[in-house]
This record gives sequence, structure tokens and C-alpha cells, in this order.
Amino acid sequence: MTLRSAQWYQGSGRDAYIHRAWMRRGVPEDAFDRPQIAIANTASDLTPCNKHLTEVAATVRNGVYEAGGIPLELPVVSLGETLVRPTAMLWRNMAAMATEEMLRANPVDGVVLLGGCDKTIPSLLMAAASVDLPAVVVPGGPMVTGTFRGVPLGCGTDVWRLSEEVRAGTLSADDFTRSESAMIRSKGHCNTMGTASTMALVTEALGMVVPGVAGTPAPDARLLTAAHASGRLAVELVAADRRPSTFLTRASFLNAIVALAAIGGSTNAVVHLLAVAGRLGVQLGLDDFDRVGADVPVLADLQPSGRFLMDDLHRAGGLLALLAELRDLLDPTALTVTGRPLVEHLDGATVWDREVIRPRSEPLLAAGGIAVLRGTLAPDGAVVKPAAASPHLLRHRGRAVVFDSIEDFHARIDDPDLDVDADSVLVLRGCGPMGYPGMPEVSNMPLPKKLLEQGVRDMVRVCDGRMSGTAYGTVVLHVAPEAAAGGPLALVRTGDVIDLDIAERRIDVDVPADEWAARTPDEASVAAYAAPRRGWERLYVDHVLQADTGADLDFLLGSSGSQVSRESH
Ligand code: FES
Ligand code: MG
Repeated sequence: MTLRSAQWYQGSGRDAYIHRAWMRRGVPEDAFDRPQIAIANTASDLTPCNKHLTEVAATVRNGVYEAGGIPLELPVVSLGETLVRPTAMLWRNMAAMATEEMLRANPVDGVVLLGGCDKTIPSLLMAAASVDLPAVVVPGGPMVTGTFRGVPLGCGTDVWRLSEEVRAGTLSADDFTRSESAMIRSKGHCNTMGTASTMALVTEALGMVVPGVAGTPAPDARLLTAAHASGRLAVELVAADRRPSTFLTRASFLNAIVALAAIGGSTNAVVHLLAVAGRLGVQLGLDDFDRVGADVPVLADLQPSGRFLMDDLHRAGGLLALLAELRDLLDPTALTVTGRPLVEHLDGATVWDREVIRPRSEPLLAAGGIAVLRGTLAPDGAVVKPAAASPHLLRHRGRAVVFDSIEDFHARIDDPDLDVDADSVLVLRGCGPMGYPGMPEVSNMPLPKKLLEQGVRDMVRVCDGRMSGTAYGTVVLHVAPEAAAGGPLALVRTGDVIDLDIAERRIDVDVPADEWAARTPDEASVAAYAAPRRGWERLYVDHVLQADTGADLDFLLGSSGSQVSRESH
């Protein structure tokens, strides 16, 4: 087998001399004949959920060396969900592009991808798909659960809950602040079934993580054992020429959708899986999520839909035990990075706690997938997570209260004179990929203070943005096309009746057709859309696709492979 890196290192010419000479700093004499394994590491002090990946990388290195490869740590763009403004999603495609290009540009034969916090695994998957080098993901794992006054806290979910309690006057601001250190108890990513947990588990179902590893808590010694094994595996992947394009098929994605539904996973997984499929050229559409996932029962009783947290899921048997309950729904042909089908890895997987991983006969929810809605408000689709919605709002008609931007929303939502009641539908626009830009997690708008004080805890909300995977509520999101792309959301006015029927997969606005056809977007709405003049934001707004196809950039669809034709010297 000729290694890709041989194009840099082999021969007696001047260029090979340059490539080798500068790399001779402590590597073995035969290093340049061995597989070169990059460790794409998203560790960063500014991505606290991934900070410990440096330690994980050290263990991957040992595994690579042991299997005869040369480990090469490659720090890549890292996105800290809690800190990065205006939203980490704005940079997902940039991180994916930078990682793809650096893997291609360097003498690398294979790669171990280290991610955790929400956007990091998606960006690594997109990069790996487009450069199509042998690759395996090691998810950094969730943090272990902290407790506040004897009650376990779910990252994210309980921030939303406790902050609403402060607004409702049932929790003091001091006690709210006191819960902070209990919320984040250890290294690792959010411990709820938010986007990070969802993407780690879904990536395993897709086949890109060694089965059984995803969901291992970050401080758990077994994560390091798995990291070591994944380093070894990366060297074997190069020998087997097992690249993402050789085993990620439509069947793999459909298995991932089954897993997404069964874990009650984040709606963000929809845009991420669509984007990864787009890089591979796998035909996957928004409707596949509804068709394949809608009737899958939710078996993981985890927050935000249920009660428990990620370390409970791991203790209860983890993803494989959960998927073993649904084996008949999985495509047996879909392979994993191990070279074996996903379903083979389910043999012997056992559920140890039936409260956390429910039996199929007693699911947390009988049908838990993501519902894809269409109608006059969302011709290209919108998504809603029925598992996170209130049963009394699954079918609802109400008057719209429209906000043109998140600033407009914050300025008016707690105004005692705002004409809003529990039946109103809160509409927020200008929050799609182009409009914000970056499609932030603002769709789960806080409820008006005066209604919270009356005991209202959920209302129908409609938005072209996303919501945090840790959030809950009857929220119709990812409305496509977005208002800034000329979608009909831009035409809705306060007072219009919105008609939602999740069972029928419909979201309509009840305005006579001739009146609707004559409408033009409000000036205030258009004025609030992003209009960046330069830099990444400009490139992003000029090229980003809509949520229904994964919000990738138009010129990043597909794969360029790993070939580089030209020399640098
Ligand atoms: Fe990093 Fe939740 S903020 S995973
Ligand atoms: Mg998030």
C-alpha cells in the first residue's frame, strides 16, 4: 500500500528533503514510512466543554504509536456554544471548511476527530466527509451530574427552568446564582439530551464512533481506554482504506434518524445530519426525519423530555442497549467504522435500569421523532419536536404577536400593555441562517412575564431560528424559507390567526388568499436582517443554504477528496 503521505515524504528530491527535515524533531528514524494520523482536536480554553480533549488526545497518541502510526496533533477551529457570538452555528461551516482544508493540505493518511460541545462534532464530520480520509470520532463525553439542594441539575434545561422561576417570582436571584457551580460539576459537555449528547450518540449510530463509546462520561477512565483503542483503529483504517464514503450510506443516516428519535434528541441534529449527508452526496431530505423517525418510541427518559441525565444513560447500558430494543427498525446493512454492521454490535447489549432506558412496551413517548410541518407559513418545511411540546397545544389556533428581531422581542415582551394572552402565538423572524446571521437558538422565546405570573408555562412559538437541544416547549422552528430569504414568515402581521395542527403536519396562516398575495414584507422586518459588508459573515450570508437542506454553504456541498496536485516550493 502506498500512503498518501508518501507524496510528501518519499524520494531523494529537494522537496522530500524539506518535508522530512523540518519534521525530524523527536520522531523515529522510520517515521516517514508509517501512516501519519492527525488528531483533529477541538480542545480550547474558550470551549470549556472540550478543554479536557488535550488529555484524550494524549491517549489517542499512545494508541496510534502502538499500532505503528505517527500521531500528529492538529488544533482545529473550536466553537464554545455558551460563549461564541452571535451564535456558534454561524461558524460551523467555517470550522468544517478550515478542518477539511488543513487535513487535505497536510501529509495526513488518517484522522482521529475529537469533539464534544454542540457544533464541534458536526463540523468535524462535515470536514471528514469532504476530505474523505479514513476517520474515527472520539466524543469527549458528558459531564457528571451536579446537585443543588439535593436535586440533580440538567445543564441548559434547568437554566431555562430556574430563570423562568426567577421571572415568575418563585426563586430568588441569589439562589439562582448559587446554583451555578452545581450546574457544571466536572469536565465534559452538557449532561442533558441537548445537542452535544445527541450528536455524540447519533454519530455512533451513523457509524463514525466505535460502538459503545459515545456517552461515556468525560471523567470516566473508560473514555481514555476508548481513545487509546480509537488511535489504534485509525492506523487500521488507513490499511483497510476505510474512508467515510466507503461505508456511510443512506442506510447509515436512516439508522441515525431512528436513534435520534429513540433518544428524544435535539432538533439541531436535523440540520447537522442534512449537512453531513450533503457533503457525502447521500440523498437525505427533511421528510426522511418525519417518515423514518416519527413513529419511533422515545426510550431514553432523559431531560429535557424526561427525568434522567447522561451519566444515568451510560449506567443503564448506553446507546447500544437502547438500540437493541429497536433492532428491527435498524437497517442491518449499515456498516460502522469497525467494518462491521451497527446491528452486530448490539449483540449482548443489556439494559441495567428500566427507568432510564424504557422497554418498548412502556416508552417515555409512543412516537417521539421530529415532525416536519408545511403550509402557507413554511412552504419548504419547519420542524417541531412533539416530545417537547405541551399536549394541549399540539392542535391550536391563535392570534399572532409578531416580533421583527430578538431586540424587538426583548424590548416588548414584558410590557404590561402588550396585547397577548395564553392563546396567542408568538412569532419571531429574522433569525434564520441569513437573517441573523447564523440561525441562533432563540426560537424558544421566554414567555411574557404577566402570563408566567398567571401560571402559563407554554405557548405556541414560531421562528425561523433554532432552539437549544436542552429546551422544551411547543416551538415550531427552522421555518423555511426564512423571512430574510423572502419566506412568507416575513408577511405575517400581529393579529393574523395562525393555525397549527401537528398531527396533520400543518402550519398555516388564516388570511384570505387575495389579501395574503397582495402583502409585502414590513419595513421594520427587512431593516432588522443582517447585511454584513465583509469577512466571514459576508461570505456566509451570500452563500448559506436554508435550514431544510442543512444550512451549509452552497459551494461546500459535496467532496473534494484528499488529492492536492501542486507543490509549495
Ligand atoms: Fe457545550 Fe452544552 S455548552 S455542550
Ligand atoms: Mg446549543
